Amino acid sequence: MSEASSTATSKPARRVLLAVSGGIAAYKAPELVRALVRQGQTVRCALTRNAARFVTPLVLQTVSGHAVRTDLFDAEQEGEIDHIALADWAELVVVAPATADLLAKLAHGIADELVSTLLLATRAPVLVAPAMNVHMWDHPATRDNVALLRARGVRFVGPEAGFLACGWEGEGRMAEPATIAAEAERLLGAPTLAGEVVVVTAGGTREPLDPVRVLANRSSGKMGFEVAAEAARRGAEVVLISGPSSLATPAGVRRVGIETALQMRDAVHAELARCSVFVAAAAVSDFRPAMPAKQKIKKEALGDDGGLVVELVRNPDILAEVGAGDRAAGARSEPKAGEVQQDGRTRRLIVVGFAAESEDVLAAARRKLERKRCDLIVANDVSRSDAGFDVDTNAVTLVWPGGRDEALPLLPKRAVAAQILDRVEQIRGAR
Ligand code: CTP
Repeated sequence: MSEASSTATSKPARRVLLAVSGGIAAYKAPELVRALVRQGQTVRCALTRNAARFVTPLVLQTVSGHAVRTDLFDAEQEGEIDHIALADWAELVVVAPATADLLAKLAHGIADELVSTLLLATRAPVLVAPAMNVHMWDHPATRDNVALLRARGVRFVGPEAGFLACGWEGEGRMAEPATIAAEAERLLGAPTLAGEVVVVTAGGTREPLDPVRVLANRSSGKMGFEVAAEAARRGAEVVLISGPSSLATPAGVRRVGIETALQMRDAVHAELARCSVFVAAAAVSDFRPAMPAKQKIKKEALGDDGGLVVELVRNPDILAEVGAGDRAAGARSEPKAGEVQQDGRTRRLIVVGFAAESEDVLAAARRKLERKRCDLIVANDVSRSDAGFDVDTNAVTLVWPGGRDEALPLLPKRAVAAQILDRVEQIRGAR
């Protein structure tokens, strides 16, 4: 029996890709795999050519229970799992050891062999355990690369100071496998939302005026994307229904791209039969042009100084529909408000809305909470320059039924997402 299958844990396995580059510390990679497998993770390994000179793929295959990849274009290895599929598969990539050369490639987007290509292709968080000679670690080039990578969100564990294999003493020794595994487990987070199907709407919608022009808004989608990413990190199945956005789809998230509010509504309804948590972070256009022109609207047709009057009609309120349980499509019987049919049972859906306000924030948010029958409203003051649209931070107040509210400090949107999902878990626990 392989080590992977002999480990019995009740937690669902998380998918860790271990990338090994060519330094002497590669000999510790099997120990790291064992530590991750003991945590209950599914581990796949990819080695650079040089790494394979320090540790054999066979050892890593034996301890991980999976075929090991060493080559970018090997037809047999690509047949097993192609390198892009492997990059997509990972929920976390651990690079241990990471040589100075690999850090440089990662910092500069070089993809000239298997491991560097996987690192460029993955959207999963990356945890790096550097290991190198003390002078290579201290070199300004390495320092700059590390600073660049940290600024991009790459996490580091080690290196530690001590006696190095090259004979020098100083910083450069790879962190111990147990330390790296513990950091990986912390980054993966506890799978507290395993079994939940979380549907998140994000970004702004675009309503066509004619084939060229649209009615749009300033939402970047950042808040909704962070909620989706955090829900996936917590082990939920996540569907992200997003208006046009240049943001990358978070790892482990299924993205459904839409343009208009009506398309967003259809996409939401298509997911509702399975959804257990609905988070409406999108800035949905409340109106759409009643009759979008089939051809581009020309100024000549409007006369010399002629203005243009466009009739707008109301879009459906997606959140209010979900809150009211207006989701009969696909369900066998009409569920009551706030309920959803799932596996033949009726379950209560947890509904979280947002309220973007520029004045009288809490009172307006409370009215939305009641009108849209939400379990929680995340209210933000969009008149602040450090919160709301297109910034990385947000200052929100959580508005609960029954008159309670909770003001959170200014936080990165990722941390706001974590707070929101903590409250979702709290609501679920209370039921
Ligand atoms: N929402 C929605 N469908 C709409 C409008 C809003 O699902 N057609 C959702 C948003 O995703 C958000 C919440 O409702 O979770 C509140 O959106 P907001 O724009 O703050 O409020 P509106 O309901 O549009 O009201 P108003 O613009 O008048 O403040």
